[in-house]
Amino acid sequence: MPAFIRGFGFYVPENIMTNADLEKIVDTSDEWITTRTGIKQRHISTGEITSDLGAEAARKALADAGIAAEKVTHLICATCSPDSYCPNTASQIAHKLGFAGCMAFDLNAACSGFIYSLQLGRALVTVDPAAVVLVVASEVLSVRTNWQDRTTSVIFGDGASAGLVTSDKGPHGAEIVDAILESDGQYGDLLTILGGGSARPYKLGETVQEDFFIQMNGREVYKVAVRSMTDVCQRMMKKHSLTVDDLDVFVAHQANLRIIEAVGKKLELPTEKVFTNVQSYGNTSAASVGIALAEGHLDGTFQAGHRVLLATFGAGFTWGALLLQF
Ligand code: ACO
Repeated sequence: MPAFIRGFGFYVPENIMTNADLEKIVDTSDEWITTRTGIKQRHISTGEITSDLGAEAARKALADAGIAAEKVTHLICATCSPDSYCPNTASQIAHKLGFAGCMAFDLNAACSGFIYSLQLGRALVTVDPAAVVLVVASEVLSVRTNWQDRTTSVIFGDGASAGLVTSDKGPHGAEIVDAILESDGQYGDLLTILGGGSARPYKLGETVQEDFFIQMNGREVYKVAVRSMTDVCQRMMKKHSLTVDDLDVFVAHQANLRIIEAVGKKLELPTEKVFTNVQSYGNTSAASVGIALAEGHLDGTFQAGHRVLLATFGAGFTWGALLLQF
């Protein structure tokens, strides 16, 4: 039973934080951020929470697919910055969209969450061809950003994306042809938000410490991200007997420009086939690949007949590749 993404949507908070704004907060410069990451600005929430962003992105995806919210049978929210531990963010998104009754749960695979969720949506459609799976990836990582830490505060941005996975292609859908999704917990401590979890509990009255926020060993993340995304893409291409000529667009997790360009180069992809929008949004974690898909859908990057390779990488570490046929 084939499964398709048949509607795309994204939403980012209105408030923009430029590199110049960051220069006023931490010891950094537009020049450093641009050359090391490619990021020029990011959108930062000023009160909207993860389910608010997710609901907006979901509304757009539903409208794009021409599907009423009440038809949704499953809602997956990929996030590592949920509204709260309990209740889950997925149920709140459904409530904000004005419906109840569907199976709704959160999925945490950090930045790989959107692609992990697409594969899960595909599996659900295979089990039940009538399933309408709303995949939402939403992050408000700004609340878990240490704004005094220049190594992380320059990288992340808030945002949400959504896609409808159904057995029906719809007018401009893309078939999920295949996915390879992997993880390796030995790298767990290289990118963390520890504070408040069972491994790092806080006691009543204790002030939060640096471990409450994102902590990252950037150099190591960079190396493993480039290596694992390149490797999984090569295996996906080999599995389907594809060369770079057979790919129309490559969309990697928009972590930073240098990682995306390094993977593109190792895959020997011409630069015009490598999609980037990290300059405008920063690293929106789970939402990033979906924002790229929705933006590319709107601006005509993806055309009927296009074969698109997605690659992802996130804390865990988790990573993977997913092949789409428009
Ligand atoms: N502004 C100015 N200087 C800075 C900044 C900053 N924002 N951050 C670090 N520096 C300084 C460091 O202190 C260091 O100074 P020193 O030489 O005096 O000690 C110098 O710049 C070099 O620091 P490095 O960490 O070695 O810089 P590097 O070239 O490795 O770039 C970066 C850092 C951009 C974080 C890089 O390692 C990287 O891209 N890593 C991947 C990060 C990433 O994308 N993470 C998310 C992906 S995974 C996911 O999305 C879950």
